[in-house]
Amino acid sequence: MSDQLIIFDTTLRDGEQSPGASMTRDEKLRIARQLERLRVDVIEAGFAAASNGDFESIQAIARAIKDSTICSLSRANDRDIARSAEALKEANRARIHTFIATSPLHMEKKLRMTPEQVLEQAKQAVRFGRNLIDDIEFSAEDGYRSEPDFLARVIEAVIAEGATTINVPDTVGYAIPELYGNFIKNLRERVPNSDKAVWSVHCHNDLGMAVANSLAGVKIGGARQIECTINGLGERAGNCSLEEVVMAIKTRKDYFGLDVNIDTQHIVAASRLVSQTTGFVVQPNKAVVGANAFAHASGIHQDGVLKARDTYEIMRAEDVGWTANKIVLGKLSGRNAFKQRLQELGVELDSEAAVNQAFTSFKELADRKSEIFDEDILALVSVQGSSH
Ligand code: KIV
Ligand code: ZN
Repeated sequence: MSDQLIIFDTTLRDGEQSPGASMTRDEKLRIARQLERLRVDVIEAGFAAASNGDFESIQAIARAIKDSTICSLSRANDRDIARSAEALKEANRARIHTFIATSPLHMEKKLRMTPEQVLEQAKQAVRFGRNLIDDIEFSAEDGYRSEPDFLARVIEAVIAEGATTINVPDTVGYAIPELYGNFIKNLRERVPNSDKAVWSVHCHNDLGMAVANSLAGVKIGGARQIECTINGLGERAGNCSLEEVVMAIKTRKDYFGLDVNIDTQHIVAASRLVSQTTGFVVQPNKAVVGANAFAHASGIHQDGVLKARDTYEIMRAEDVGWTANKIVLGKLSGRNAFKQRLQELGVELDSEAAVNQAFTSFKELADRKSEIFDEDILALVSVQGSSH
């Protein structure tokens, strides 16, 4: 099995399905360029049959982006698939992504189709797509809540028709990491031609486990593609977050043993761009891209980080595109952090007693003000200097 993990970004398709996150063609193009800079392997640019606007966005992205594969979503019918192929015509590398629901609930209540009809439609869709483009991804919507015997039959059949990627979504975010990982593993073992396709995971975050489930799909299940979005944008509570899953794979390479192509230095810029474009604010304590992700406020932590960054940092802020980690001076800060900031500001106090006095004034101020800025420190030492 390959050691390379494919990163499939669906910010522009599933991400855009977040209520209030719709994007114009130019905005999508700007984000696609940033995804290319990130070296995302596959960019799902939209759903060509959904609207003329989506069709044109996919077309523009297919023209402009050269390094990533460009993908368009399609329901499992000839019209949608032909529309995707048309939008992708000028892409350097193109993928058609076709899907149909396979869970009893979705087949009976939503599609009003029998399992045999779903199986036939899935086969027909992949066959039709394969005549237009070589790279075909098949998704079994609500795959995790599907009956494994039936799902295995569908997957075996679509691989036989030429599907090159098999995606098993947890469409409603119902999975638990260990169970999802084993679900993928068992399916792969059950499908005789499973090694003819790359297996993919696509997890929603309804119970806050999208990243954990995706990683279990890889580690336990043997999937080699993760579908994710910048800032975890997506339907309802969102999708697996690209920045978190990529940094987990990189930081814990000792455990996963996998490589990703992502140039992580562009992560923070991508997060900001998506946030500014959609108006979806990133929470300060969000892993990797939140404003506090690399900030240290307590005295003990600040002291540790100033002595050796590894004491409280498992990743480097600079590696994901922050300028540096941040020592936030406030009432919990210690003397060491304060002294270091004086040095950075070029302030030389002539004795340890003067430092102590400045530190006492700083603590008094910090009791009244939640964050102390450089200007506050400079004002404080200049008052102290003038009183000497
Ligand atoms: O969540 C889902 O099942 C999807 C599919 C269309 C891949 O987004
Ligand atoms: Zn989805």
